[in-house]
Formats: sequence, C-alpha cells, structure tokens
Amino acid sequence: METKPFQFANNTPLSLSPNFILPEENRPILSEVFSSASIPTIDLNNHDIDDLVSKISQACEKYGFFQIINHGVPKELCQRVLAVVTEFFQLPPEERAQFLTTDHSKLVKVFNYFQKVEGQGKVLMWGETFTHPWHPTEDFTHFLPKNPPQYREIGTLMDRLLSLMSQGLGLEKDCLKRKIGERPAIYTQANYYPPCPDPELTMGLPAHNDISTLVVLLQMEGVSGLQVVIDGKWVPVEPVPDAFVVNIADQMQVLSNGRYKSVLHRAVTNNRLARLSLPMFYAPNNDTVIGPIEDLIDDVHPPMYRNYSYKEYMDEFYRQEGARRRVKEAFELQH
Ligand code: OGA
Ligand code: NI
Repeated sequence: METKPFQFANNTPLSLSPNFILPEENRPILSEVFSSASIPTIDLNNHDIDDLVSKISQACEKYGFFQIINHGVPKELCQRVLAVVTEFFQLPPEERAQFLTTDHSKLVKVFNYFQKVEGQGKVLMWGETFTHPWHPTEDFTHFLPKNPPQYREIGTLMDRLLSLMSQGLGLEKDCLKRKIGERPAIYTQANYYPPCPDPELTMGLPAHNDISTLVVLLQMEGVSGLQVVIDGKWVPVEPVPDAFVVNIADQMQVLSNGRYKSVLHRAVTNNRLARLSLPMFYAPNNDTVIGPIEDLIDDVHPPMYRNYSYKEYMDEFYRQEGARRRVKEAFELQH
C-alpha cells in the first residue's frame, strides 16, 4: 500500500509557517547539545538484587532517567506495537481527526502540544500525540499465557520497577505501589514527529517534567530526539536496541521527599526521518492523596511538599497549560 505523506489531523500544513516557529529564546540550540554524556543503561537480568537496587536508586537520584535492557518484554511485541502505531499515523488525517479534541476529560484523544508565546498566541509543537488509558495491569496479567514465562512480565514491569525503587529508598517493597493506590491510572501515549525542514526553529515537545509517577518509554530505533538535562546541559537519549527509557515523574519526586528526581526533558525534531515514541504513564487516580512518605521525613529531611489530591495537581497542571510547567513548585513547603 502506498502511503501519502504525513499530514496533521488538525489540518495545519506541514510547512514552517509562523504557527510552528518559536521565538528565539524558546528554540533548541542544537549546537550546544552535549553528546559525550549519557544516562545509564541498567541490565534488569541481574540476580544480585542489592546491586540492582543500588544501580536503580543511584540513577533515580542522580539522573531521574535510565534505560533498561533484558526487561522481559518480548522484542516482537515491542515491534508489533511500534508498527501498529506507525500505521495509525499513516491513516488519512480525517480518520485520526475523529479523535481530535482539546477536552481534557476525553479518555481517547489526538491533540497537539503548544506553547503560549506573548504577542504570538499559541505556537504549535512539531508533532501529533495520541493517548488513551491502559488497563490496570492486575486486571489482565492473569489472562496472559504462562509460557513463555516472560509473557507475564509485560504487565508487571512497572510493578517491578516500583518495588526496586521502594527498596532503593529503604522502604518495604510494596510501599510505593500502595501509596500510588489501588486503582492507578495507567495510560499510554504515542508521540509522532514528522521530519521538519528546520529543527533549529521548532520543538517536538518543549522542555517539561512529567506529572505522573513513573514513565516507561519505548522509542523507535535509529532516530534520536529525546534529550534530558544532565549537569545543566542538554544530553541526547540515544535509542539503545531493545531498551525502554525509564524516568521519574513528579509524584515520585514528591513521594520520595525529593530524593528521586523528576528531570527536565524535551523532544527535538530532525529533518530526515519521522520519529515515534511511546511513553506509558503510571499515575495515581484523582482521589489519591500524595505527599512525602512519612518514613522519609525526619529532622534533617523535613517535608518538601504539602499533601494534595492528584486532582488538585492535575487542576494546577491544566492551569499552566502552554506555559513552562512549574507544577510541583506550587505544592512546595518553605522551611
Ligand atoms: C512525553 C515525552 C519524549 C519523546 O511524552 O512526556 O517526554 O521522546 N516524550 O517523545
Ligand atoms: Ni515527558
């Protein structure tokens, strides 16, 4: 089947019109990206559990980002998911437009990120996003085949990471999972970035922190675009074959009372190839109360944040839509 060139579902022509051009101070300065540093890659097939816990907790404290290999999710499954989502973005734009909405309460939606720029209104990001909820993992893992044994690891990868992270904080294995609550909101997102004539003028996703708790992201091989801040510099997260990128999001920074870092990241565009990334977000549900875990509070480590419901957090997030997000800052306590 011949595929037509990509068109945005919102019908904005795929050309560098003022719709997409960022003011100078918001542009990525690609010549300043520092390629000599990188986030760590951690092999999950490590039977020395203390060693694994310490590698993960160090990565969460220092970088807030790492890649995992030998995570148990079969390569074929990852490839099938990437292929199916790529096909979705190759559909005629009218077909994807059925899902186009700016209504945040819609569960299944196609939308475009934007930045609010003074005097210019909304500047669109060079990408299109599709998102929908995923089942709570426990609801479906027991339907999965027992063999090969890795099959059951698909749904339990998030749980395993949470357990390792809990242990890294010196907490009971199931502590973080319990704090995030019985009915976590797990949703998946697909970010599609078509090739861009001039990546210096646009951004795929502006610099941001993720607001959920934990993010596991699958990115296609061979095309880079994700960048994170390390020691004040933008550093690329180059795709590692068969790896997932894992990152700490805001709720984890709050729960860990600031020990695990929700780090600023962004996606830049490139002028040769389309890029696809699939983050999976693990968030509390709206009623869950989030705040620093009591065992992590003492005289030396007073609580850095007040308690709040996730609903309050989301309201603040939407209030700041289009601006440079400073959501968790609104819940900080001053000492
Ligand atoms: C996100 C995100 C990065 C990417 O969706 O929150 O940071 O590589 N995505 O697309
Ligand atoms: Ni993100």
